[in-house]
Amino acid sequence: MEHDRPVAREHLLDWLRDAHAMEEQAETMLKGMEGRLEHYPELRTRIAQHIQETQHQAERLRFCIQDLGGDISLLKDWTGKFMATMQGFSGAMASDEVVKGSMFSYAFEHMEIAAYRNLIAAAQILGETQTAQVCQSILEEEIAMASWLENNMSNVVSQFLLLAGRDPGAAKR
Ligand SMILES: [Fe+2]
Repeated sequence: MEHDRPVAREHLLDWLRDAHAMEEQAETMLKGMEGRLEHYPELRTRIAQHIQETQHQAERLRFCIQDLGGDISLLKDWTGKFMATMQGFSGAMASDEVVKGSMFSYAFEHMEIAAYRNLIAAAQILGETQTAQVCQSILEEEIAMASWLENNMSNVVSQFLLLAGRDPGAAKR
């Protein structure tokens, strides 16, 4: 059985728009965390780096969408819909916000990893090499962020528990 190319192409475009919305959501979430962190300098620095990467990722996705002949004027609505589904999370109010925030970031990175693997598969089916390459390079940044969190979350927990005994207000961020 052959793929129906126009149908596959529309799905690829939708998934690129989803990914763009995901990056805009990631940027909002990461900026929120970065702006609030005070007692976790390493986490803050890594998040600042990933904010830069995330902004560049969103820009590259817009180029991919345009390159495939897709409309980027509707991206804002798309982001709004995506954000509405993510609003269940508001770790900023939690007494352990740094722990919840890094846990949520780790989970979010893995959702991004899954999304880019799917995009690469779809782009390859359609022979859209450039889109596949862009998604591959974004995927590598997400994997790097996920593995940084994997290696550093235990330090965050340790620092949190140390501070929690002395100054719970400081511990949370
Ligand atoms: Fe990302």
